[in-house]
Amino acid sequence: MATILNKTNQFPENMKCAHELIIKAKNGEKGNSKGDTYALPAFNVTTYQGIEAAIEAFETLGSSGLIAFSNSACKHFGKGDALEGLEYIHEHVKFRASKSSVPIATHLDHGDNIGEHGRKVIRKAIETLTSVMADNSTDHANKCATSLDVNIEATKEVVDLAHPKGISVEGELGVLAGEEDEDTKSEISTYTDPEELKRFLHETGVLMLAPTIGTMHGPNKGKPGHKVKLNLELAHDCLEIANSINPDIIFVAHGASTLYQNVVDHALTSMKGLGINEKEIETWKNFVGTDWEQIKGLIQNGFCKINTDTENRQTYLSALLGAVNSNASKVDIRYYEKITYKALVDSYIQKLIMAGNYGVWHEPKIDVKNFKFDLTL
Ligand code: G3H
Ligand code: 13P
Ligand code: ZN
Repeated sequence: MATILNKTNQFPENMKCAHELIIKAKNGEKGNSKGDTYALPAFNVTTYQGIEAAIEAFETLGSSGLIAFSNSACKHFGKGDALEGLEYIHEHVKFRASKSSVPIATHLDHGDNIGEHGRKVIRKAIETLTSVMADNSTDHANKCATSLDVNIEATKEVVDLAHPKGISVEGELGVLAGEEDEDTKSEISTYTDPEELKRFLHETGVLMLAPTIGTMHGPNKGKPGHKVKLNLELAHDCLEIANSINPDIIFVAHGASTLYQNVVDHALTSMKGLGINEKEIETWKNFVGTDWEQIKGLIQNGFCKINTDTENRQTYLSALLGAVNSNASKVDIRYYEKITYKALVDSYIQKLIMAGNYGVWHEPKIDVKNFKFDLTL
């Protein structure tokens, strides 16, 4: 028997389980009204500045807030110790959320219950965050897919620990190509098998699942000049299966970063101004994001959590290059911090608007229709 998610658990003030916020998006709920399905971007953050920028963006739009922390992000917060990092994150977000105008969920991205380190981190995350990913579809040490049996057993163990505490669990089926974590890269990639999906959902009891449908992590998701195509037919089949088992099941799209042309253009101009070598410039020119039309197709098929990291890293770096290019003798950390912070807030706002995640908890504080994301402004 699968362990059901305890929905009566009390989190710190203004903090919610990720599933509670994402299911509202699947059902199109905003305030007391019901409309179209929308999605929660799960923003991967790695610094306190990132946390603050994401929460400012959520508050600006009245959005449901979801911030994600990879294992390496936790290590970064803990100066090499992911467990300590989770404690810092917990204390910091708890305090910040208590002052927030919108609810915030915190999620461990690409946790696993296979290796010794992964097992420790995921258990600590169950104590410190409001949601965890148990990505047991890949054996990262041996660079191969795990068997379905191993994946189910390892994921169910996490569900049994997390669900009674009200912590949602995200599983993964199939293997995603690209860089999942600073420490783990995968060259292999497989699509989700619908029969395996049925068994996985029934036996683990997860309410959040990342089935592989062709997305990829990182800044090079396809050939430059070509649009990335996803398997939307498979996404649709997966949704029908999931809904027949439990309509509360939500899908997660990893590798959902698009690419903002204004961010690329700003970086290229700044790099040229700074005399940065051609090789770095070529790297920027070759970046390819996932096509937004394809992501919209996923959202319509129940992918209401869209994981977004790379595009915001690009925004940060582009803004920093621009700041240095225009004022390289400003000896003041605050000057560069203000510029990168504003760029991150705007990058987050842009994706929240695209995903339809605004006006959920209160009216947006800006005119959403006329918002312009432009690093040169
Ligand atoms: O999908 C994973 C994220 O992009 C995490 O990257 O480990 O470098 O923080 P990171
Ligand atoms: P991107 O590399 O497309 O930002 O994907 C991030 C991700 O899937 C985090 O889990
Ligand atoms: Zn991912």
